[in-house]
Amino acid sequence: MKNTAKLFKILTALFLVAIGVLIGKTFFNSTGDQLIPMPNSMRYKTATVSDSTATKPEIFNGKILVVKNGQSIQKAVEKASPGDIVRVFPGTYHETVYIDKDHISLQGIVQNGSWPILDGEKKLNDAILYSGDRISVENFKIMRYKGNAIMGQAGNNFIIRNNWIIDTGVYGIFPQYGKNGLIEHNVLSGIEDAAIYVGMCDNVDVLHNEVFNNVAGIEIENSRHCLVENNYSHDNTGGILIFVTPGLPIKTTFDVIVRNNFVVNNNHENFGAPGSTVSTIPPGTGILIMAADDVIIENNIISNNDTGGIIITDLENGDPKANDPNVEGNPDRVIILDNLMYENGNHPIGELKALMLANLKTKAPDIFAYGGGVGSTILDKNKYRTFGLSAFGIPSISDTQDVPTMMLPQLVAPRSVSKEQLGELTYFGICAGCHAMGSRLIGVDTEIIQAIYAGNPEGIVDYISNPKNLREDYPEMPPQNYLTEEAKIAVAEYLLKLKN
Ligand code: HEC
Repeated sequence: MKNTAKLFKILTALFLVAIGVLIGKTFFNSTGDQLIPMPNSMRYKTATVSDSTATKPEIFNGKILVVKNGQSIQKAVEKASPGDIVRVFPGTYHETVYIDKDHISLQGIVQNGSWPILDGEKKLNDAILYSGDRISVENFKIMRYKGNAIMGQAGNNFIIRNNWIIDTGVYGIFPQYGKNGLIEHNVLSGIEDAAIYVGMCDNVDVLHNEVFNNVAGIEIENSRHCLVENNYSHDNTGGILIFVTPGLPIKTTFDVIVRNNFVVNNNHENFGAPGSTVSTIPPGTGILIMAADDVIIENNIISNNDTGGIIITDLENGDPKANDPNVEGNPDRVIILDNLMYENGNHPIGELKALMLANLKTKAPDIFAYGGGVGSTILDKNKYRTFGLSAFGIPSISDTQDVPTMMLPQLVAPRSVSKEQLGELTYFGICAGCHAMGSRLIGVDTEIIQAIYAGNPEGIVDYISNPKNLREDYPEMPPQNYLTEEAKIAVAEYLLKLKN
């Protein structure tokens, strides 16, 4: 008996290793040779449907600065000028890298299977923070941070590619308030909130990533014109979430295509910070659409998500504490095209379970719609087990082949940073990642901050320069010392004036 168990364990371990090797191979072509970064002609996407509309290549033709084990990446970034490449060789780096200039490529070099590793040792908050325009970050292993692995703060035209990100705290890859970006071929695991979090962005493609054992796999939040394609999202609490968080400066999510993804086994227990928005996601959620409009779900394989395969809901039901008069909380014009769905909803929990029992069912459906919303459609309703789709009509399209990318054909201009806009930009780009008006995110409700610091912007400047942990039920806020004094006071004044 004991031996059989042991044998089983060994076999399982071998199997997992084999799968790991397979996945490693597909994602990183780890042939043992030096990994040569993609040629310039391919720096934007390799279009999956048609090359004719692929985005213009991004070119870095400045100097190459080399960082070797034992040296500092940040020092090299400080020496770099726009157009330069910072090449980081294998080694372990314990640092936070800030990129506040434009057009820099931060490029890991993989030699004989060894990667450059950024290790925060659970002491540092963030691995890489960029605020510049046209930043690219690729080929890093990033682990054990407390805040974010790669966070963009209002940087446009970004590329985040081919990174492994494990246990980096709240978010993995988090471009905030950026336009025109590409997130591809990354693997992320063990993230407390969202592994890939596209927040308040426009025109972003999220392609060929693997996300597992996170609370949220891929999140498109308060963002527009996004493509989520060819990703493998498994064993998270929720697989792919397309929604609106109320209280943020950008009030809408719309025009999102979720296509050709594997969304399976998203039944992980929810380990989100208590009180945070994602901590309410029920385990077993495949794809969630909440208050987002014009979302198209096409050709995904969605299976074994125990609560439901696709859940469509409004803010009133999904996030009842939400209170933002400028957010329209209904999911409108959702289009469900052909998908393969089976074995979803086997073990619904909470309200969904109660609702099913009231309808004399123990199993939840593949597709579940609940609450408001108009104009939604589905191609072949009879293919799936559904609930609440009686108002769904027939879509006017049958595929999305005419949309190979949501990225723009040209680079967009950097976000403008005139003095008046500095406060707004800093708030949008940084603070809104954790603070919202009228609801709790990672940090306290902005309205509470306004009440505490009314007429006292200097008090906010002092706090954000040297935050103390004031509340038992909140984590510590990371210091914002990389901001200029000018930006600190501008954001403090902006925050105090902000209205929903
Ligand atoms: C990574 C998440 C995060 C980011 C980004 C963030 N905060 Fe916070 N903030 C927090 C958390 C968590 C708390 C609560 C800390 C506590 O009470 O212990 C907090 C608390 C605060 C407080 C309340 C202090 C008090 O006296 O109660 C202020 C003011 C504040 N943040 C301002 C800002 C500003 C301004 C920015 C943008 C420059 C910002 N925060 C960015 C997480 C964040």
